[in-house]
Amino acid sequence: MNLILTNIGTLVLADRSGKTMYRGADMAQLPLLKDAWLHIENGRIADFGLMAAGVPAAAATTELWNIDGRLVWPAWCDSHSHAVYAAPRQDEFAMRLRGATYADIAAAGGGILNSARRLAAMSEDDLLAVSLPRVQRLINEGTGALEIKSGYGLSVESELKMLRVARRIGQMLPVEVRTTFLGAHAVPSEFAGRPGVYLDVVINEMLPAVAAESLADYVDIFCESGYFSVADMERLIRAGADLGLPAKVHVNQFNVLGGIEAAVRLGALSVDHLEVLDDADVEALCSGTTLPVLLPGCSLFLSIPFAPARRLIDAGLPVVLASDFNPGSSPSGNMSLVAALACLRMGMLPEEAIIAATINGAAAMGLASTCGSITPGKWANLWISKPMSGIEALPYHFGHSFVDRVLWHGAPVASDAGWF
Ligand code: NIG
Ligand code: FE
Repeated sequence: MNLILTNIGTLVLADRSGKTMYRGADMAQLPLLKDAWLHIENGRIADFGLMAAGVPAAAATTELWNIDGRLVWPAWCDSHSHAVYAAPRQDEFAMRLRGATYADIAAAGGGILNSARRLAAMSEDDLLAVSLPRVQRLINEGTGALEIKSGYGLSVESELKMLRVARRIGQMLPVEVRTTFLGAHAVPSEFAGRPGVYLDVVINEMLPAVAAESLADYVDIFCESGYFSVADMERLIRAGADLGLPAKVHVNQFNVLGGIEAAVRLGALSVDHLEVLDDADVEALCSGTTLPVLLPGCSLFLSIPFAPARRLIDAGLPVVLASDFNPGSSPSGNMSLVAALACLRMGMLPEEAIIAATINGAAAMGLASTCGSITPGKWANLWISKPMSGIEALPYHFGHSFVDRVLWHGAPVASDAGWF
């Protein structure tokens, strides 16, 4: 479908610079075009310009939509989620509200292991059936690209099941999906106290099976006290690289273990979480190309520190924001809220938060050439706002949904959201 949107109040991230990400001080320079038109052809951005300069002559088959002063945004690019899972963990949430910590719950066999038990008992089709409406809801909230991790399988069979479901979601729903193999998410109880033996299974059995079916684009590991060590992470990153799978890793959520330096040195695409950071970590990030991905929804939900985004941007880094949508530590995948939290609790400017959650997110999924900005040639994945006074309204009215209509590959998305 070919379409021209006219009378756009503000076209957000209208960018002809050819940049694949924004870093440091550049992140405050969000390109905004006021009183604009946007031409979409064959699912892609064809061109944009100012109303005052004249709307291009349209072919008879091209629809014209008068947007009436509303804002047009590039779809959110959410580069870190665990959106495929069997069931929510509201019971654990209630325990936390009564004083238990995330670590207490995990130590008692809850947490990731709880999700793994429930997922093992579910067929692939049932897992797909509960995951689809969940992802459709994220799409309705403006997400146009989504990374989905495995990691609630923890066995060859269940990890493959999760990744097949993630791939099927990408084929069935209007969203670009990238998948990440996270077999090393937790040590299953049958390997308790023997993480190295379990990692052998991850590397020697799961990873080759995942690669043989081309089920993953990336590999991941939870590098944390009580989970996997830096040495484990190095092994996993090397094994992934041997199969052509770059790494995106969970590090520095609760403890500084030296994982960032190792991940940067081994060329990981991203290091995610970073709620705790020391000077050596920041130095390591500045020395390499690995992207720092920050997850404020997790900090809010677990009452843990927010990652020091201001410090990282001031150091010149290309900060990324993602939802970490999962049933244990961040049950919201709403990227408008993620961007708002970054402004409210991490010292980011609205301009920086928007860039971090769109084009920089696309870079953290290897999708920056096709997604993340309003750029000629990229997919027309975008959302049209309800009436709003400007981009600052998004963090200011935090929690309010400004998303009115979503377009994916230039076509309107039917919004039939289901339950969690
Ligand atoms: O990113 N940190 C490890 N993994 C997830 C949480 C998973 C869970 O609790 O189910 C995270 O926060
Ligand atoms: Fe995560």
